[in-house]
Amino acid sequence: MYITSRIGSEPIQIGMVLGSGLGDLADELGDSITISYKDIPHFPVSTVFGHKGRLVAGTLEGKRVLCMQGRFHYYEGYGFDQVVFPIQVMHALGIKELLVTNAAGGVNTAFKSGDLMLITDHIRLVADNPMRGPNIEELGERFFDMSNAYDKALNEIARTKARELGMALQEGVYMFFAGPSFETPAEIRAARILGADAVGMSTVPEAIAASHMHMRVLGISCITNMAAGILAQKLTHTEVMETGERVKESFTALVRAITREWPV
Ligand code: HPA
Repeated sequence: MYITSRIGSEPIQIGMVLGSGLGDLADELGDSITISYKDIPHFPVSTVFGHKGRLVAGTLEGKRVLCMQGRFHYYEGYGFDQVVFPIQVMHALGIKELLVTNAAGGVNTAFKSGDLMLITDHIRLVADNPMRGPNIEELGERFFDMSNAYDKALNEIARTKARELGMALQEGVYMFFAGPSFETPAEIRAARILGADAVGMSTVPEAIAASHMHMRVLGISCITNMAAGILAQKLTHTEVMETGERVKESFTALVRAITREWPV
C-alpha cells in the first residue's frame, strides 16, 4: 500500500481524526512523516481552501499514532462513503482504535462555549448511512451493533484523565446535522427534545464506519458555541474558530493525557 511505503509497517496504536482547533497537535508528533491527501491513491481530494488535508504519522506520548489533519465533511459534497474512506484505510493499516474530535454547538443549556464534551452516543436522522450499498464482508457484517459505538472503557479513561487534570468534562449525545447551514432555533429545540446535548456536522459517519469494522472509538467535542436560538447573538464560523483556538491548549493536554494512558 502507498501509505506503508511512506511510513513503514510498524504497528500504529491509535488513529486520530483532528477536528477544528486540534489540528495543530499533528505538528507536535515525534519522528513524524507527513503525506498530503492529494498524493494518496483513491483518497478524496480536499475542497476547502486553507485546510491542511494530510496524514501525519509519528509518536505522541509514547504511542505510535496516525493523525488526519483535516477531515472530509458531507457538506463539502462528498458522499458518506468518501467521508469514511480514510477510516477504512486506517483499518487496512491495522489500526483498531480511533480518537475523534470535533467542534460542536451546545444544545444542553447547562453547557457553555469552551466546554469539552465526551461523546457517549449519537443521533443521526439523515437517511444516508456510510454503509448503505453492497456490504464489504471483509470489513464487517451487513447489520451491525451500535450500542457501544463510543467505547465505554475508553470513556472511563477520558473521565479519569480530565479529573486528574482538574478539567471539567461534560458528556452527552452528539446529533449529526448535514450543514453547511447552521441549524434553526426550531431544529435545536427539536434536537433537545430528542435527547441531543450537542450538534455538529462530522464524526457520526466516521463512528458508524468504525463500528462496522469493530474499531473502538473515543469521541470528544469542543463546544465552540451555544447552538442556534439559545443566546441572542448570531452564529458565525469566526466564533467556532475563536473558541477552538481558546480551548486548544487544554484540549491538547487532555488528548495527550488520554494517549499516554491508552491501553495497548
Ligand atoms: N452547529 C453545527 N455544527 C457546529 C456548530 C453548530 O452550532 N458549532 C460548531 N460546529
